[in-house]
Amino acid sequence: MTQPAPRKPVRKAVFPVAGLGTRFLPATKAIPKEMLPIIDRPLIQYAVDEAREAGIEQMIFVTGRGKTAIVEHFDHAFELEATMRERGKALAVLEPTRIPPGNLVAVRQQVPMGLGHAIWCARAIVGDEPFAVFLPDELMIGSPGCMKRMVDAYGEVGGNLISVLAVPREEVSSYGVIAPGERRGALTEVRGLVEKPKTAEAPSNLIISGRYILQPEVMRTLESQEKGAGGEIQLTDAMARMIGRQPFHAVTFDGRRYDCGSKTGFIEATLALALEREDTGPAVRAMARRLLG
Ligand code: UTP
Repeated sequence: MTQPAPRKPVRKAVFPVAGLGTRFLPATKAIPKEMLPIIDRPLIQYAVDEAREAGIEQMIFVTGRGKTAIVEHFDHAFELEATMRERGKALAVLEPTRIPPGNLVAVRQQVPMGLGHAIWCARAIVGDEPFAVFLPDELMIGSPGCMKRMVDAYGEVGGNLISVLAVPREEVSSYGVIAPGERRGALTEVRGLVEKPKTAEAPSNLIISGRYILQPEVMRTLESQEKGAGGEIQLTDAMARMIGRQPFHAVTFDGRRYDCGSKTGFIEATLALALEREDTGPAVRAMARRLLG
């Protein structure tokens, strides 16, 4: 009898960062949305840190026009470091921006045709391996982090995984929603997926929340894909076509999630993190009292 092939580990992550960020204009006219900082770290840094914690080695950025600052952020800044060293300043603060040579890859999505299309642009780098996807404007805070939990679940069930969270029913029409099957702890079998359903037609209130582990076959599915909701090539539609062919599960993340693609979500994340950080918490708490007082 032949043994099943051993499960390939998740070593690669795709960060689609080629969107236009129109909800943050004019701030995002010349600066990528993913470089907007929550306190002192850009959004993309939080996502890369979460990937590292999950054991992911290769970071693949799908960038577009005006997005070079993201790649620069993870580059070696020779002059900055030399000047800081000369002035006796500690370089530890730059540590998270270091990525080993060869482990940062940037591919270009020339026209923002949707999330599914952005992922498909990374197909040659992903090759024949499972890969993670991070939407950096969804900030996931928890310990262990969301992707670490997903990688652990992947070790158990394999196949495709998405992170989900429950929202009030009236909010589902802005998101991808799952049709849930059997539930076991934090793992839920996924029977169907629908992008931006009408509230009355939504199969649940569990929304896809910006983290995925996908099998490379999804790239072939994306290749032949028609445009979906909003005239864009939707990742959700391609994933929906994988259901039944490969295992598909959702992981309910028990940490916190902030939708930093929206202004109020961005402000909430900034306040929440500032309040809990030791270096900013006391001053921000006093400031909040003063402002509300
Ligand atoms: P969003 O719809 O949240 O981002 O896409 P956006 O289009 O940049 O923002 P708004 O709505 O205009 O304000 C989710 C993620 O997918 C990426 C975005 O960069 C974001 O990280 N994306 C989206 C692409 O890389 N390419 C696309 O064609 C669309």
